[in-house]
Amino acid sequence: FKKNDFNNNLLEWYQSNKRSLPWRETTDPYKIWLSEVMLQQTQVITVIPYYKKFITKYPLLTDLADADEEALLKDWEGLGYYNRIRNFQAAVKEVSSKYDAKVPDQPDKFFELKGVGPYIGGAVQSIAFNHALAAVDGNVLRVMSRLNQDARDVTKASVQKSIKEEIETLIPLEAGDFNQALMELGATTCTPRAPKCVICPVQEHCEAYSSHSVFDFPVKKKA
Ligand code: ADE
Ligand code: SF4
Repeated sequence: FKKNDFNNNLLEWYQSNKRSLPWRETTDPYKIWLSEVMLQQTQVITVIPYYKKFITKYPLLTDLADADEEALLKDWEGLGYYNRIRNFQAAVKEVSSKYDAKVPDQPDKFFELKGVGPYIGGAVQSIAFNHALAAVDGNVLRVMSRLNQDARDVTKASVQKSIKEEIETLIPLEAGDFNQALMELGATTCTPRAPKCVICPVQEHCEAYSSHSVFDFPVKKKA
């Protein structure tokens, strides 16, 4: 596995093939955070109008921190998993009072905030601040398991942690683009049922492709 070639192929592909999504137009850590909270359990296509509504209605972190909780829940209606928005408001309230409304760019401080787990923490700290942390979602697990012919059960937390650590040995300076490129590859190219290996930018690095075993991965054991 040639790390530099892999990174170059992936990042070049991402630059010319990334979808234009509204949260890719901003460098505001609050808006990036909001987008990742929405995207964690909801599809891109569903998130877009909600994201636009929220940044129009709550353009500043302090607007969301000071919002009436009822109004916020009403605006969230349709996205589900309401604890996401409750936790997010609690977290931005804390950022507002404790950090002068500036999202901490130190990972250990950010991880102390409500609702910030490994995925949100890694996504926000890498996309907003280029910290070398992985952001592992289902797309990324599928891509990595195929690249490495990794037959471990990706539903296990220990396996997810190990894959996260492996990615963190690969992350280049452009950590945010790298993470988004891996997600994007999984969403658009290395898809579950019809992966487009023929046009995949990292095909030459893919063990499952060379072994004709793409459909054997990822492994998800039933409980
Ligand atoms: N899914 C999770 N985070 C994403 C992002 N930043 N862009 C596109 N899809 C995503
Ligand atoms: Fe996925 Fe195919 Fe690319 Fe391998 S070659 S990473 S299986 S799309």
